[in-house]
Order: sequence, then structure tokens, then C-alpha cells
Amino acid sequence: MSATGRAFASRHLLGIEGLGADELVLLLDLGERFLELGERPIKKVPTLRGRTVINLFLEASTRTRTSFEIAAKRLSADAVNVSGSGSSTSKGESLLDTARNLVAMRPDVVVLRHQASGAAEFVARHVDAAVVNAGDGTHEHPTQALLDASTIRHHKGSIAGLEIAIVGDIEHSRVARSNLYALTRLGANVRLCAPFTMMPQGIESLAGDHRRQVSTHARLESALEGADVVMMLRIQRERMGDGPARFPTNREYSRHFGLSPRTVAFAKPDAILMHPGPINRGVEMDPTIADGPRSVVLEQVTRGVAIRMAVLYVLGTGGAVPSEFGSA
Ligand code: NCD
Repeated sequence: MSATGRAFASRHLLGIEGLGADELVLLLDLGERFLELGERPIKKVPTLRGRTVINLFLEASTRTRTSFEIAAKRLSADAVNVSGSGSSTSKGESLLDTARNLVAMRPDVVVLRHQASGAAEFVARHVDAAVVNAGDGTHEHPTQALLDASTIRHHKGSIAGLEIAIVGDIEHSRVARSNLYALTRLGANVRLCAPFTMMPQGIESLAGDHRRQVSTHARLESALEGADVVMMLRIQRERMGDGPARFPTNREYSRHFGLSPRTVAFAKPDAILMHPGPINRGVEMDPTIADGPRSVVLEQVTRGVAIRMAVLYVLGTGGAVPSEFGSA
């Protein structure tokens, strides 16, 4: 297959932090091609026939694991799923031993979800397979940010210049971090909003040269005022441990930081409303909002498969973008 000259330079996808805007756009464009495939009666192309993808999911997941599995299968790769509770990690095997043993079976790509920040990079340094980070602790979740960017670009035409509010448990959110990198690099202004107990100090600096595109807000009203996109985050209780509570009650949280018919009115009338899932209905999002006409929550999930196909495609074919999937 001939390459178009647009190439994905990295061997792995460990995070958005290491990617430039051109690599993000390349994956978004490829995702659009694969989205069309998902609408056909026969949703399969032979591109990765004979390749093996291992989905090593050592932390809970419904959407992301299924999405990677479907993506691999639509590319005709053999997909194998390993989950935490049924694997030897529950017998005390270390992550590195598990990964080395799986890689001894010669997969081409390992997709890893793990509760420790840095787990994907650590595995990538020690094994000979392409590694995709499907969420590592509170660090990054690059394919989520790509599918979010894909959804936003589809609805708004372009990401540059948009006002995008990301609201909720910023402290524990790898989704917020990956989106902060992706959306600022693509030219958006990002407003981060959380109770002060869930807002990491100095988080703007993650955006590096783009930090002036980032603002922090302690009040939902100011974050949503004139926003084009509202992205709600789940309260991640599983990452809070036994430490002090971050807010008094769900009711109190929802009144000040939840998206409801009352609070959504602060955003632009045509703002799209997003959530990576799983939603705590009635806490981050009122059910009438989650199921309402401006919610794009399920479209995010549909685009997730297409984006993961794009990622597996470029990594599984060694980074070249074959001409039939060239520039969109
Ligand atoms: C997110 C995750 O796991 O980080 N979910 C997902 O992948 N769709 C967000 C979350 O769990 O709240």
C-alpha cells in the first residue's frame, strides 16, 4: 500500500501530550472514514487481517473495552480480551510480568487500561509491541479525547475558537487532562470548572504554550456563560480513597455543578452537551439533559469505535496512512 506522505510518527499512543495538531487531525480525518464503514451492512475491512490485538483491561470498563474490541474486529484483526478479575494479576502477578507473558504470544498491539498513572508508558518501555493507553489512573485517556474532538468538530465545523467548558471532578479525570491537551492544541479555549476541592492548582500549565487558552472557574455560571460545548465529568469516587469528602452530598453537588434545565440555560442555545460515561444520572447530569435533544452522549460512543479503528490502523500498519485513507 502506498503512503500519502501524511504519517503518524509515534509507535505507541500513550497520551495526547506527545502529539502535534497535525497528528490529531490525521486521526480525526481517518476516524471520519471509518465512521462511514460503521453505517454499512457489512462493517469490516481486511486491513489488519492476521494481526493480533490484546485488550488488557485491569480496571473496570464497558464502553472503552467493547469499543476497542469492535474496532479491532472491524479491521479484521484477531482481538483477545483479558480483564483484571479473571487474570493472573488477581493471583498477584505484576503488571510487567503479565505484559511480558502476553507479548511472548506476539500480539501486534496491546491496549492497556490500568489504575496507575504512567502504566502504559511503563509497559511500552519494556515490551516489543505497539501500546495504546486506554486510560491510566488520573493521567491520560487519549482515545476518549480524540472521540470527543471528533464529535465536537462534527457539530461545530471546526474546533479553533470554540469556548469549551469541562465541568466536574477535574482532579481525578484523565478525560479532562487528555481533552485539555487536545482541545487547546486544536485552538479551542477551555474553561475548567470544579469545586475548589477537585481543582488541581496550576492545571493550566499542562497546556504549555497554550496555557492562555485555559481558564479555571469555581462557579458553573461563569464557566457556561456563552459556551459552545459543555463536557460533564463523572465524580470518580473510586479514586478518592478514604480521604476527606470533596463535597457534602450529591444533592449539594448537583445543585451547584450539575447540568439541569436551569443551569444549561447559561450556555449558548446551540451548545452541545457531552459526557464520557458512565453517567451518575441526577448528579452530574439531569436525565432530561442526558436524554435531551442537545445531548451527544451516544454519538460520542459511536465515534469512539471509528476513532479506535483509526488508532489501531495507524499503529497496526506501522504508522503509514495508505492512500485510500489519505487526507480527508
Ligand atoms: C472514563 C474513564 O474511564 O476515564 N470513561 C470512559 O472511558 N468512557 C470516564 C469515567 O470513568 O468517568
